[in-house]
Amino acid sequence: MDRNEWLSGAARSSLSRLLPRLEKTYAPELVEMPVQWNHFKNRLNREWERLFNYLQQLYGWQYDFFYTLELILDLLIRYWLKRPASLRQLDEQREADPYWYLSEDMVGVVLYVDLFSNNLAGLHDHIPYIEQLGVTYLHLMPLFSVPRGENDGGYAVSDYRATNPDLGTMEELFELASALRERNISLVLDFVFNHTSDEHRWAQKAKDGDPEFMNYYLTFTDPVLVDRFQEHLRDIFPTVRKGSFTWNPAMQRWVWTTFNSYQWDLNYGNPAVFRDMAEEMLFLANQGIEVLRLDALAFIWKRLGTDCENQPEAHIIIRAFNAMARIVAPAMIFKSEAIVHPDEVIKYVHPQECQLSYNPLLMALLWEALATREVKLLVHSMRHRERLPYGCSWVNYLRCHDDIGWTFDDNDARQVGIDPQGHRKFLNDFYTGKFPGSFARGVPFQFNPDTGDLRISGTLSSLAGLEEALERKDNTMIERAVRRINMLRSIQVSIGGIPLLYAGDEYGALNDYTYLSDPVKVNDSRWVHRSRKRWKAADDLTDTETIEWRFYHEMVKLFQLRKSTPALRNGGMELVDTANPHLFAYIRGNREQRLLIINNFSEFTQIISADKLAEAGMTRDALEVLTQKMFPAGEDLELQGYRYMWIDISGPS
Ligand code: GLC
Ligand code: GLC
Repeated sequence: MDRNEWLSGAARSSLSRLLPRLEKTYAPELVEMPVQWNHFKNRLNREWERLFNYLQQLYGWQYDFFYTLELILDLLIRYWLKRPASLRQLDEQREADPYWYLSEDMVGVVLYVDLFSNNLAGLHDHIPYIEQLGVTYLHLMPLFSVPRGENDGGYAVSDYRATNPDLGTMEELFELASALRERNISLVLDFVFNHTSDEHRWAQKAKDGDPEFMNYYLTFTDPVLVDRFQEHLRDIFPTVRKGSFTWNPAMQRWVWTTFNSYQWDLNYGNPAVFRDMAEEMLFLANQGIEVLRLDALAFIWKRLGTDCENQPEAHIIIRAFNAMARIVAPAMIFKSEAIVHPDEVIKYVHPQECQLSYNPLLMALLWEALATREVKLLVHSMRHRERLPYGCSWVNYLRCHDDIGWTFDDNDARQVGIDPQGHRKFLNDFYTGKFPGSFARGVPFQFNPDTGDLRISGTLSSLAGLEEALERKDNTMIERAVRRINMLRSIQVSIGGIPLLYAGDEYGALNDYTYLSDPVKVNDSRWVHRSRKRWKAADDLTDTETIEWRFYHEMVKLFQLRKSTPALRNGGMELVDTANPHLFAYIRGNREQRLLIINNFSEFTQIISADKLAEAGMTRDALEVLTQKMFPAGEDLELQGYRYMWIDISGPS
């Protein structure tokens, strides 16, 4: 018998042993809803074998594996029973339309509740602003209970079932999710599941010496073992602290802390951790979350002798969570936050793993092309790295709450004649404004003197040159910065995937240096681009002369165009050879419509020849969608500095 045969048999027999027992336990509730129970069982039957397979690989060798299975099945039924009727209805709707998130209507924004609107009640009042922008995907930065003082911007969670009291209550969160859903806006929240804060109940018990909870974390008494692990690990926040381990005097043990010393990595080798975190996940699903952002997912499994990132078991754990979500809450999908090498980023993206993923490569390479004015690395990398499995989508962003790291592949760079390390140094010099003639005003993040690594903080506008231009009151520079920003946004909206706006960028927020006088923030330059929303700017949106208005208006226009342009429905893109090193061009489309999109990454006018246009499919006069102007076929096309065009090259219908 091969493993697959054995697996099917074992999965089936375990389910047929366990399910009747649990059906008995929950009989009083189940008789009330025979039809729905059948739906649940269908999903269970569909997903069980793969869930069993994953769990077997992770925990099958442990003597109490059958007990693990029983608890997990019980968990699935309990959380399905607890699932509010409105969400069960949504589950059915989504089962009938499983690729709802691939629609051209999907447009996202991410924001901090406290910075945007003080609290959840305030956010409720600002839904109209979000609606006006055209947003259908709203990611709220972590809003759970966290330690006072430093908490990594909410990424050190002390309780997954309690909101930070400054922001509001769980009830308010649930109501907000419902209110958003009524307006076709999906709520997106983080699942910070690699670590908890050191104030989490489990960590407290571990500190009290409870062996059961010490086993929830990765703790060590042997400094030699710590060193052996450490040897291969990368420092994520090297300016704050060296190494990935923190000595805890209460326990007299080292604790694995990949990020900050107060963020304790969980031990997924322990099935109790898997179960308890799966329970937190299902709890979040039942609050009405439709997209769960899996935070720092590359780090969840450790293996001696490796860098402890992207281990095969990390994928198995996420797939197991995915199967559980499909059974209990199929309305909810996952988004991967893997800011790692592009070969690894893509491995998390699969309908049975994370349906969505940040696109850190596109993000980094757009900035790279903006600095160099050349698109060769962008084109070369995208050519073989853009495609995702069917049913999956990129989330395209220009800026987010984190830093920018230059995560392109070294060989991709070499193949287009770029020395990767030298180039990273150039990009860091450029974006921190050190490189002569640079327009950017970025701030260094986490310089590591041992490796020379550095990442970049700063807002979209400051990085694209607006801050410097405004300071110099130079109109040409201002105009260029505005054009750069709008071109990046046009690409973000048109290239395929869900565009995700970082709140503040819609009106061009600049760097905010006030974090330097806040002792809690001063050591983390990411705060330079996490500033309080200036509502003044929102009020000024009626004043059509301001830069804010231009940005805001252009953003809304692009979002609307995306929604009304069938060619921009989710799917891949074809790169177009322009024979011009400064032009980035691609085709988006389907049977209904095809668009040829051309972007000029230099400040000077560039030409694409009539031949190249014809090769790309522009064989007759064509309409430019943004300006509604016709362009004649058979002529070279001139694109001014930082301009972009969306040319409709659909054939006759
Ligand atoms: C993710 C978050 C980042 C945080 C880290 C640790 O990468 O985006 O802000 O510092 O995880 O949770
Ligand atoms: C690293 C991690 C990423 C995290 C970031 C925070 O890039 O890979 O997960 O968001 O650091 O700065």
